[in-house]
Amino acid sequence: MNLTDRLKQQAAWRAAEYVQSGMILGLGTGSTTRFALERIAELLKQGHLKNISGIPSSLQTEALARSLGIPLASFDAHSEIDLTIDGADEVDPDLNLIKGGGGALLREKVLAQAGRRNIIIVDESKLSPQLGSKWPLPVEVVPFALGVEMKFLQSLGAKVSLRKNSDGSPFRTDQGNAILDADFGPIADPEALARQLNQRAGIVEQGLFLGLATEVIVAGENGIRHLMA
Ligand code: A5P
Repeated sequence: MNLTDRLKQQAAWRAAEYVQSGMILGLGTGSTTRFALERIAELLKQGHLKNISGIPSSLQTEALARSLGIPLASFDAHSEIDLTIDGADEVDPDLNLIKGGGGALLREKVLAQAGRRNIIIVDESKLSPQLGSKWPLPVEVVPFALGVEMKFLQSLGAKVSLRKNSDGSPFRTDQGNAILDADFGPIADPEALARQLNQRAGIVEQGLFLGLATEVIVAGENGIRHLMA
């Protein structure tokens, strides 16, 4: 395992310590969350955890949870989540995030808004002085509106690219939408940008997670830090 994966695993295992029997969990998406799911599955098998179930933030996570034997739940039966564990692409000093590198931002935000406690797990490379410094902002757009929303994002000063799969076909989210990766550079006022984007009919969701992380577990070469919002 390379260093980054080791750090991701350390953050994930630390977060898994907060899972308690009987909880409804929000299950994030991505390579860091995968380590958390594997750990939770192990704790279930060993009998240290009982009677938990998870609402997955993507079809990918749903398949992973099934394969690991983690019981699944949905918002049909539960309207609140006790604890969500998820990764992030960028974390600023106020614990605001950019998410959506895996394309699951819409469901991830639904989980984060339904969660009492949202633990974000990252390796230290995700820490950023200002959102947008390291990662373009993923914007989920209905395919019908692609041209017009691309032009809108460009009018706000972003360099915009349509996300594609490795075979060159357009990436589609679990909802069948497209992702525009909008590179704004460092974002001076994330709240203002989020408001502008949220007003657009063709934009289904955007990857600014502001005030949603209750805590962030950061694993670095010098140890693990638990940052509280
Ligand atoms: C998925 O859409 C994303 O929000 C992920 O949570 C984020 O990209 C972090 O992924 P990694 O843990 O794979 O870096």
